[in-house]
Amino acid sequence: MPDQLRPLISARRIKKRVAELAEQITKDHNGAPLTLIIVLKGATVFAADLMRQIATPFVIDFVRASSYGNAAQSSGTVLIRDQTGLDVRGHRVILVEDIVDTGLTISSIIENLRRLEPESIDVCALVHKRVAGAKPVEVRYTGFEIPNLFVVGYGMDYAERYRNLPGVYRLTPDA
Ligand code: IMP
Repeated sequence: MPDQLRPLISARRIKKRVAELAEQITKDHNGAPLTLIIVLKGATVFAADLMRQIATPFVIDFVRASSYGNAAQSSGTVLIRDQTGLDVRGHRVILVEDIVDTGLTISSIIENLRRLEPESIDVCALVHKRVAGAKPVEVRYTGFEIPNLFVVGYGMDYAERYRNLPGVYRLTPDA
């Protein structure tokens, strides 16, 4: 059986919510030194839409982290590569993530970033999964809260596929 995809969050809802998040970020950080650090690869689509609507100056950089490999379940270890090369000392940093699941990935990135002495580190995630027993992480800017489902689309993948879907879909992998 091929992978099954069921619509969960439409492109229209995403568009509206992303605009609200950008407005909130603009209000909260207006004029302050701001760096957006985008978590590769999943957050690229979200970040591209979000950043074009933030109306205060900022710079961007990327960080690469992976805990899933090609599976639909977290491997439990987080590899962080291509850590930011920018000087974020004294900057407000917003980590832009596609999805916070167990919180392991974002917590590891935050720990790493702290050494660079930014003024603050906030998390902006398109999706926050509610997972029992997950590491509690504060997500200041959340697009959507969802139950513990595996989702793809709008940048999120399953074995590198489906990132190009304009909405978010619940995926039941091929058995
Ligand atoms: P965490 O460390 O468990 O919070 O997992 C976060 C990372 O795992 C995200 O950045 C995604 O790359 C990936 N991930 C977690 N849940 C999903 C999902 O439902 N679909 C696609 N990727 C996911």
